[in-house]
Amino acid sequence: MEGAEVARFVWFDGRFVRRERALVPLTTHAIHYGTSAFEGIRAYWNSGQLSVFRLGDHVRRLRRSARRYSMRLRFTDAQVAEAVTGLCRKNRIREPCYVRPFCFVGRHGISLDVTGAAETHAAAFAFPMGRLFGGGGISAVVSRWRKFSDATTPTQAKMGGNYLNSIIATRDARRRGADEAILLDSGSGGECVSEAPGENVFIVKGGRLATPPLSSSALDGITRDTVLRIAKDSGRRAEVRRITRRQLRGADEAFLTGTAAEITPITRIDGAKVGDGKVGEATAAVMGAYSDIVNGRDRRYARWLTGVY
Ligand SMILES: Cc1ncc(COP(=O)(O)O)c(C=O)c1O
Repeated sequence: MEGAEVARFVWFDGRFVRRERALVPLTTHAIHYGTSAFEGIRAYWNSGQLSVFRLGDHVRRLRRSARRYSMRLRFTDAQVAEAVTGLCRKNRIREPCYVRPFCFVGRHGISLDVTGAAETHAAAFAFPMGRLFGGGGISAVVSRWRKFSDATTPTQAKMGGNYLNSIIATRDARRRGADEAILLDSGSGGECVSEAPGENVFIVKGGRLATPPLSSSALDGITRDTVLRIAKDSGRRAEVRRITRRQLRGADEAFLTGTAAEITPITRIDGAKVGDGKVGEATAAVMGAYSDIVNGRDRRYARWLTGVY
């Protein structure tokens, strides 16, 4: 979101306030220890309608993340969902946007014992967002940094602190001239692909899609799940299985999935072309199907869209 202007009103502990008035003290626990749970959600603007994609799934994951760290989310799922749609309405957003709801520990001294009694805040802000990467294909490198494993911190909790791993891997990739990093797992799976700093990874081999299992420390991504559903419903073979570094390099096609990145083709890995170096047939088909779903053109998935207006 570098450079993107955050919409004027934010949601803070149940109220919509101007963004410059939503302030927290320097002692805020989350600043020091990364004790925040967050989500990234997209809303799509189409023919005069704004719709949030898989809102309920994101809100449920937010609650699960906070719970994993005994942090109390002091609002019901319905209230958080209403905060997201209400934020879009309050800001009169009439373009594609990204919404970031989060929950964080406020005043808790320097204690590392976070319990349900710790003070927490909930907030959300929104900003306009088009495509994160161009649709033509990006370059990726296998990072020298490994994805943390469940033996370190829970991989399924989307916590602020976890993203230091993503930040250092991204810097490493950019320094090496690539658009994105791919991290290998550091758990018992060893040399296998885990995920990218903020996206899941898919490969295509012989027309068949594959993505790493959660046991490779990959996040249970909502876009990943959407792609697996698209494959199932369209009769395309897809499997969740370990992917070695060699299989990644030998893939016919590869792509990333994520709320922000949507479906992003990877056309180079470690400097070498993936397949023929162009966006492949399977990737293009998934991109098309995904775009139809999020933009409301495929009514079979209408239940995944929450109308704002
Ligand atoms: C580490 C990581 N992996 C994968 C994803 C993709 O998840 P989703 O499709 O739910 O956005 C994200 C984004 O939330 C992420 O931060």
